[in-house]
Amino acid sequence: MSNKSILVLHGPNLNLLGVREPEHYGKTTLEDINQALTKQAQQAGVNLECFQSNSEAELVTKIQSIAAKKVDYVIINPAAYTHTSVAMRDALSAIKVPFIEVHLSNVYAREAFRKHSYFSDIAIGVISGLGAKGYELALDYAIEKINHS
Ligand code: DQA
Repeated sequence: MSNKSILVLHGPNLNLLGVREPEHYGKTTLEDINQALTKQAQQAGVNLECFQSNSEAELVTKIQSIAAKKVDYVIINPAAYTHTSVAMRDALSAIKVPFIEVHLSNVYAREAFRKHSYFSDIAIGVISGLGAKGYELALDYAIEKINHS
């Protein structure tokens, strides 16, 4: 295991994946996603932590905690907070750790309010609409970047 670490953050209602609007979010549960990411990270010799919260305050506190730990990359699906949270954006700007924004659904093919993200312009990149595969691709990219830095 290397000393490199990646944090995966899941926003509100993502604990309901598998049962919640599968036409938008698929049938894969959050546990399935986290297990697959953990395995992928283990194979690459990288530490991975997954954290889900329905609370904006908890997510901000978790992002702030990165400053004290050593986290090399963040993968975040801010869920509904994508479209509302200046506080989470500011926390990510403050800690200055590169992050990838992931959405299971294609937010550009849905309601107008989902087209605006408070995160995309400060993210390294955005993956939207590829379902659970989006997390896998984001992790693949993050692993490649931190292993070559
Ligand atoms: C989401 C898209 C958001 O608009 C929505 O509020 C979510 C999930 C996605 O993964 O597609 O909760 O981030």
